Amino acid sequence: MGGIGGCVINNPETMGKTLRSILIKQSHLGFDGTGIAIIKNSKINIIKSPKRAKEFVQIDHLEKLSSNIGICDVRHATHGRPHLDNTQPLDDCNGEIAVAMEGVIWNYSIIRDRLSEKGHIFKSRTDAEIISHLLEDYIPKNGLLDGIRKTYFELDGSFSFAVIHSKYPDKIAIVNKDSNVYIGRNENGIYFATEIDAIRDLVLEFLKLNFDKLALITQDSVEIIDLKKGIPESFEWQPIAEAPKGNVPGGWPHFMLREIHESTLWLKRAIMTPQKVYLDLAASILNDSKKIFIIGCGTSYHAGMISSYIFRELAGLSPTIIDAAEFTYYSLKEVKTGTTVIAISQSGASTDVLRAVSKAKLHGAIIIGVTNSLGTPLMFASNVYLPIGIGPERAVPATKSFLGQIIALYQLIIATGLQNNFLNEKEAKEIFSHLYKLPRIVEETIAMTQDKAREISEQLYKRNSLYVVSRGLNYPIALEGALKFKETAYLHAEGVEAGELRHGPKALVYNNFPVILIMPKIPDAVEDSYKLISEIKQMGGNPIIITNKGDKTSRKLSKNVIYVPNVPRIFTPIVNAIPLQLLAYYTGIKRGSPIDVPRGLSKAVIL
Ligand code: AGP
Repeated sequence: MGGIGGCVINNPETMGKTLRSILIKQSHLGFDGTGIAIIKNSKINIIKSPKRAKEFVQIDHLEKLSSNIGICDVRHATHGRPHLDNTQPLDDCNGEIAVAMEGVIWNYSIIRDRLSEKGHIFKSRTDAEIISHLLEDYIPKNGLLDGIRKTYFELDGSFSFAVIHSKYPDKIAIVNKDSNVYIGRNENGIYFATEIDAIRDLVLEFLKLNFDKLALITQDSVEIIDLKKGIPESFEWQPIAEAPKGNVPGGWPHFMLREIHESTLWLKRAIMTPQKVYLDLAASILNDSKKIFIIGCGTSYHAGMISSYIFRELAGLSPTIIDAAEFTYYSLKEVKTGTTVIAISQSGASTDVLRAVSKAKLHGAIIIGVTNSLGTPLMFASNVYLPIGIGPERAVPATKSFLGQIIALYQLIIATGLQNNFLNEKEAKEIFSHLYKLPRIVEETIAMTQDKAREISEQLYKRNSLYVVSRGLNYPIALEGALKFKETAYLHAEGVEAGELRHGPKALVYNNFPVILIMPKIPDAVEDSYKLISEIKQMGGNPIIITNKGDKTSRKLSKNVIYVPNVPRIFTPIVNAIPLQLLAYYTGIKRGSPIDVPRGLSKAVIL
């Protein structure tokens, strides 16, 4: 995953400068490796490093590169840790082809095994490398265009990729399956990138490459081919507009809002990222364990808490969920050989998590790491790790990574339940069929809840405090929602178990005190929630309800109802998290909070 770019230009002396500029402008798309490939004297030349773009572009000879044709890549690692060998572009066995890919290939291991058996030598552990080896087989027999088409039809996933071939030294082929690809031109050549902003200053006109299309670009031409039909199609250039005003690439005001909206695409990829072999390995460790702990901090702890409910329901296992910071004091004495710790951390670097992991290991525990960041201390400390694959997250308030963690953990639970026969194939298939619909449902949720969240934030921003209340599987969402309000909106908020509200917290519910109630999807809990709303109203509180669109009763009880799509109960945490993220965001905006960089906090809490 990451970002790709490149150009075919008439002045070879400007190649280094141009690729450098594209890399810098896409540097936020991946921090785990940077590389370029050019064609020089009919040979592919790849320069790469497992470093961030900002460090990579300091290489002395980069600016001096001379070529008419080049591609580049920044990498977010999911398949293979940050390492020179795993850095893109990647070539084929003969060094004739270089490929830069953005996204994920779901069926890569089957193809890799087949190609390996045929004698292809793989240099990396990435999914991307299969593309150059497939092209190596198909282009000589089918020509460039049909060779790429044959390759494309073998790949299942969500991606775009760019190819240069030393036998076709005037062309770049760019394929878009399910990503963003912008192509632009000026009098000196043709340019492309994942982010429009990466080429905005270079070009006069641009086009967006649609899905299932191939673009063949030369110095002065662009041909668009429909990959399914194999025939060229017409297109129109659009004048490039000025960059939209916004602090964040893509014209977004904040990374947090961009990352909430990005959840749709990235969830699709998160579903495709964990590999069966590692899910099965982790599952067998869990099934052989005498005791299981789940640990994490903040948002990751809340994701773990949700999974602890689902482990009971879908795998028949009863892990203990405990905050990583508290683990040492509460649980360490119970850790011995036969204990497994599932350690969840977006950054893979939180000191509290690492400390708990290292102490647990000293007591004989096996560690299953769930992280969005490979090459981190958590990855190295884990016996098995599962990448979340949700793409880089920049805002300190975690949003898309929370959804990604839930998805990774659900996949682990299903694998575990299948292995120990708690789940049968039919049940697992049914759950997966809903899981695959989630990216679309997330998109629908954002569309359904955004305006209402903005409207309700008008009532919240002047308050000093609020409660977020729910039960069952959505109790962790109440905790997570409250956390989002604190760090994003600088507004005190408390997550309260719905029944517990009556045991003390209710005393503050007067004078329009906001109580956000996430309607649980459990029949008896629904009835009790309606009762609770009436009690909140009686005490003078302001109930704000998040519920599914089939709920007719809630609208009679409150004018503040946020409707979310109706999904099976186990997926309600996903759809309920989004309006809370948006409510916290818009309330933060009204309160003038810095949103992406709350005071005193950092993306990874390293002590
Ligand atoms: C979430 O919005 C927070 N910024 C914070 O609670 C975070 O989840 C926590 O610090 C854990 O980070 P990690 O997942 O990188 O370990």
